[in-house]
Amino acid sequence: MAETDRMTATTLSTRGSYWITTFGCQMNKADSERMAGILESMGYREAPAELEADLVLYNTCTIRDNAEQKVYSYLGRQAQRKRTNPHLTLVVAGCVAQQEGESLLRRVPELDLVMGPQHANRLDVLLAQVEQGQQVVATGEHHILEDITTARRDSTICGWVNVIYGCNERCTYCVVPSVRGQEQSRLPEAIKLEMEGLAARGFKEITLLGQNIDAYGRDLPGITAEGRRAHTLTDLLHHVHDVAGIERIRFATSHPRYFTERLIDACADLPKLCEHFHVPFQSGDDDVLKAMARGYTVDRYRRIVERIRERMPDAAISADVIVAFPGETDAQYRRTLDLIEEIGFDAVNTAAYSPRPNTPAAVWPNQLSEAVKVERLQELNALVERTARERSARYAGRREQILVEGTNPKNPEQMMGRTRTNRLTFFPAQRSDGRTIAPGELVTVQIEDVRAFSLSGKLA
Ligand code: SAH
Ligand code: SF4
Ligand code: F3S
Repeated sequence: MAETDRMTATTLSTRGSYWITTFGCQMNKADSERMAGILESMGYREAPAELEADLVLYNTCTIRDNAEQKVYSYLGRQAQRKRTNPHLTLVVAGCVAQQEGESLLRRVPELDLVMGPQHANRLDVLLAQVEQGQQVVATGEHHILEDITTARRDSTICGWVNVIYGCNERCTYCVVPSVRGQEQSRLPEAIKLEMEGLAARGFKEITLLGQNIDAYGRDLPGITAEGRRAHTLTDLLHHVHDVAGIERIRFATSHPRYFTERLIDACADLPKLCEHFHVPFQSGDDDVLKAMARGYTVDRYRRIVERIRERMPDAAISADVIVAFPGETDAQYRRTLDLIEEIGFDAVNTAAYSPRPNTPAAVWPNQLSEAVKVERLQELNALVERTARERSARYAGRREQILVEGTNPKNPEQMMGRTRTNRLTFFPAQRSDGRTIAPGELVTVQIEDVRAFSLSGKLA
C-alpha cells in the first residue's frame, strides 16, 4: 500500500464500525445500501458482528404488526448493550421510525437518531447533530435529494435503482402512503446516469423500483403531442434500455389499475426487459377489492394477465394477496383461491390482514378472528406452493439462460442465478473443461430438477 493510501485508511477507520439490519421491502434494502455508502464515506467500516458494532442502524418496516414488533425486540437488546457501552450509537431508520417519530424516544430512550425513509440520503448530516450530543428525530416531509453518494451495494451483479419514491394511492389497509409520503419521481436522465455508472462497475441486471411504479412520471411536468403525460414508465423503459453492459432490466411493483397495454408491448418489444411481472391483485373478489379501494375489478386483472400471455406466452406472473381482510366472507376468500388456481401464479406473497395505525380499515368493526386468519393463510400457502410447483414443471428438460449471481451459500460447488422469468437456478461451478464460472456471466443451463421455487441443472 502506498504511504498516502495507508494514511487515508487510518484516518478513515477512526469512526469505528457499523452494522445495518434491514427489515421490509426492496425499497428499504435500496435505502440501506445508500446509508451504508454514506457511513463508509464518513469513515465507518462494516463491523464483523452486530454486537461488536459502534453504530447500529435498524432500517425498519411496519407493513404488518409482526414486522414492527420484531424491531422492538432487536432494540431491547441494543438498549441493554448501551448501558455498559455509552459510546454506542443507536439509529432507527425506515418506516417504523416515520410512523412513531418522537414516541420511539419515549419507548427506547437510549436511541440517538430516529429518521424516516425520506431522510436516508441525509444520514451524515443527522449523525453530525448526534455527534454534538443531541437526540435527533427527522421525520418531516422532505424532498428527496438526488442521491450523489455511492451506495454500498450487496450484489456486484444485480442493482436496484429507485425511480419513484412514495405512494399516492389510499388502499384502506396500507400504511405505506403515511410512512413513505407523496410520490416523487426521479428524472429520466438521473436514472439513466445511475444505470450507466452501475454498468461501468460491472453490474448486469437492474431492477427499477417504486411502490407503485406505474405511477412513474405523473408528478413530472410535460404533455406530449398526442396529449398524454410526457413521462411514463413505458417512456422510461425505452429511455434506459440501451445502457451498454446491462443485460437485463426488471421493474416492481406494478399496480393493476395503471398497468397499460403500451407497457406490456414495450416489455415484449425491448429485448432486455425480462418476462416477469409482479402485479399484486390482493383479492379475487370485487367487493373486497372495492372495500380495499384498489380501483380495479378481477376482470381487469384477468385481461392484464391475458394480454401479457398473448405477447409473452412464457412470462412468469407473481403477485401479493391478503386474506381475512375485514368482513371477508368464506365465499369471498374462496374467490381468491379460485383466481390463484385459474391464473396459475409462479409465486405469490401471502399475508393475513393486519390492522395498521392511521389506516381506515383498522377501525372497522368487522375484523376477523386470529383463528380465521391462521386457517385461511395456511390453506392459501399450500395452494400457492402447489401452483408454483406446477409452473416450475414447465422448465424440466428446457435450456434456460441464467445470469450468474454468485456461489450457492449452501453448496460451494454450485453457482446460482436466475432465469429471465426470475426462477432461482443452481448449477455446477465448473465447466466440463475445468474452467470455473464467474458471477456476471450469462450461461445456458439444461434444467434437470424442478422444485416449487427453484430449479437445478447442468451447464449446456
Ligand atoms: N405497492 C404494492 C405493495 C406494497 S406493500 C402494491 O400496491 O401492491 C406489500 C404487500 O404487503 C402488499 O401488496 C400487501 O399484500 C401486503 N400488505 C400491505 N398492508 C398490509 C396489511 N395491513 N396487512 C397485511 N398485508 C398487507
Ligand atoms: Fe400500499 Fe396501495 Fe400504495 Fe401499494 S398502492 S403501497 S398497497 S397504498
Ligand atoms: Fe415495509 Fe416500509 Fe417497505 S412499511 S414494506 S419497508 S415501504
